[in-house]
Amino acid sequence: MTAALSEGVQTSPAFTPRVFSGIQPSGGLTLGNYLGAMKRFVEMQGQGFETLYCMVDMHAITVWQDPEALRRQTRELAAGFIAAGIDPEQSILFNQSQVPEHAQLAWIFNCVARMGWMQRMTQWKDKAGKNQQNASLGLFAYPALMAADILVYHATHVPVGEDQKQHLELTRDIAIKFNHDFETEFFPLTEPVIEGAATRVMSLRDGSKKMSKSDPSDASRINMTDDADAIAQKIRKAKTDPDALPSEAKGLEGRPEARNLVNIYAALAEQTVDAVLRDVGGKAFSEFKPMLSDLAVARLSPISGEMARLMQQPDEIDAILRKGSERARTIAAPILKQTYEIVGMVS
Ligand code: AMP
Ligand code: TRP
Repeated sequence: MTAALSEGVQTSPAFTPRVFSGIQPSGGLTLGNYLGAMKRFVEMQGQGFETLYCMVDMHAITVWQDPEALRRQTRELAAGFIAAGIDPEQSILFNQSQVPEHAQLAWIFNCVARMGWMQRMTQWKDKAGKNQQNASLGLFAYPALMAADILVYHATHVPVGEDQKQHLELTRDIAIKFNHDFETEFFPLTEPVIEGAATRVMSLRDGSKKMSKSDPSDASRINMTDDADAIAQKIRKAKTDPDALPSEAKGLEGRPEARNLVNIYAALAEQTVDAVLRDVGGKAFSEFKPMLSDLAVARLSPISGEMARLMQQPDEIDAILRKGSERARTIAAPILKQTYEIVGMVS
């Protein structure tokens, strides 16, 4: 546990230390999801927090999802969580749409948040693109639902990758405005937890772009279901520069592709970037890339093997998610009820 986190646990004595995070079942899991999010979700288990991890299928449908693909991807994501080390007894693992309190609180937050706040979100601007008029209303309201995901549990800590920082600031803004408007201290100001060497894993083809499940080029990303050959081939073809690796982090400045591969290595090896560069400084990429492939295969193949095994038992996955949503509702329902009372909704 990092210093920042253990300090964080002490900062909100009024609230149970509780972690919430979510991943969209909108495609296959990437190495970016694993290093930036899932691996860190696993590390937060058993550290004095209650942990809730969610497949956010309602967020996924803010852009078109084929129903059959959504079903498969939701089960595959659940298998990924379990294979990566989320223990469904210790953590609450569930599907967002099955806990209606998320949508119910989101409506209230739609009435707290302002249009201008949403309009400033970079993810909205990126995803809606030039034709905002044709984007779904759900895509615009996406961050209010995300705030509801978190605050319906009074979650105190949210581990995410760097790209979610702005949404978490908005979550705090919604909590502040709600608390202010209704003269209460009902919602906590949740702490983002954005830590480690891999908070922003970049595309293997372009060091200025995030590695993403929606990138049209499969060579840009490592999928958690890729086999050893595919991983080795993608790393071999990854874009680099002609220089050898530096022996200190300072030498990675202005070298985004080199920085990305070293960050990935450090996160997989659970070492700091400086420690990695002490070992590999001076090596050419032709020597470093096979080291990186071997490490990636060693770390990822047990996970993909276990995912494939779990995918043979969809009924078991569904049963785990059903139990998870029942447990989640026991926390969310009383918080929603109190919110309704604060707002003045008569029951
Ligand atoms: P998403 O796939 O957009 O639902 O993202 C799920 C989680 O993975 C979020 O916490 C993201 O910040 C994180 N994530 C997604 N892509 C990356 C990436 N390339 N590097 C680091 N974290 C990422
Ligand atoms: N917006 C997040 C993403 O795309 C997923 C998400 C939805 C989430 N609700 C959340 C993450 C609540 C953390 C907490 O990555």
